[in-house]
Amino acid sequence: MPHLQSRSLRVYADHLEYLDQTQLPQTEQWVRCDSPWAWQSAVKDLAIRGAPLIGLSAAFVLAQYAARHPNEDWQLVSDRLRATRPTAVNLMYCLDAMEACFEEGANALGERAAALFEEDRALCQRMAERGADLLKPGDRVLTHCNTGALATAGVGTAIGALAVARQRGVDLHVYVDETRPLLQGGRLTAWEMADLGISYQLIADSMAASLMAAGKVDKVMVGADRICANGDFANKVGTYMLAVVAHYHQIPFYVVAPYTTVDPECVTGGDIPIEQRDAAEIHGAAGAFGKVMWAPENAPVWNPAFDVTPAELVTAWILDTGVFDAAAIARGAHCQGRKPTLGAV
Ligand code: MRU
Repeated sequence: MPHLQSRSLRVYADHLEYLDQTQLPQTEQWVRCDSPWAWQSAVKDLAIRGAPLIGLSAAFVLAQYAARHPNEDWQLVSDRLRATRPTAVNLMYCLDAMEACFEEGANALGERAAALFEEDRALCQRMAERGADLLKPGDRVLTHCNTGALATAGVGTAIGALAVARQRGVDLHVYVDETRPLLQGGRLTAWEMADLGISYQLIADSMAASLMAAGKVDKVMVGADRICANGDFANKVGTYMLAVVAHYHQIPFYVVAPYTTVDPECVTGGDIPIEQRDAAEIHGAAGAFGKVMWAPENAPVWNPAFDVTPAELVTAWILDTGVFDAAAIARGAHCQGRKPTLGAV
């Protein structure tokens, strides 16, 4: 029996199992992970993905490595984990918390990782309830990428809000952006919507503007990988485009995230490191659905994994700590408690 379990992670005493998100929705395959190197490869491939889940799984991998190698330099391992995906700041949050108790030994690291996991579960519930408060019966909500239970220890961020609204009996219709190039919407969010019993339709990303122009979208809700001091935020590439179009059509645009996604040291979106990914992801597609190439083999490619949405396009930031408008963000209300003592939740 795992000590701890979420929709996509099982934690055992000396190893993890993750639900391989590259295989979904065709196959639910759990894969053993018992080294930092196996974790790095799973995260690079997006078999483990989503800002909170990346950070939490790194914490357990580090704790388990420390228990097996009490005399090695844990800092070197933490540095390697930290460099694996540079944009989502939850990874840095979790590794900072782990490094802060290196001196207390391996047992303390295991306890700290478990506390981070429980914290994320509680944060998900809080922000999801705040997000659900903003949803009305009949709302048609557009979302991007995957922000559900697969990406966190709990109910999720933006999808968490939809799930809690659904639990409250609020009928919604969700438009799911396919989310090129790796199709987290088409593969994972569509699967989660069906699992949650939420009415949905899948669209290609390029259809969002005409959907909004047709008056079919009441709200846009997305997650975040890093929120800056000024409210700019990074999320899956394509989010910025949605925010621009929603602004043009005067459709409320919400970002839903835990306080662990806020990075007060990033002053503006220009300070967020954006991961560039392999050209093969744009040349074609590979995965459980097989491998198909459609571009010329050597076609030059620009493939940022994330983009930055400026604060001026956001209606409200829905965090576990509160729902903040632009004036509250300008006062730095979202940064309060960014480095709290664990166990505060
Ligand atoms: O590259 P991914 O799939 O890890 O990107 C995920 C996202 O962009 C999510 O919106 C973000 O991590 C928030 S998930 C709760």
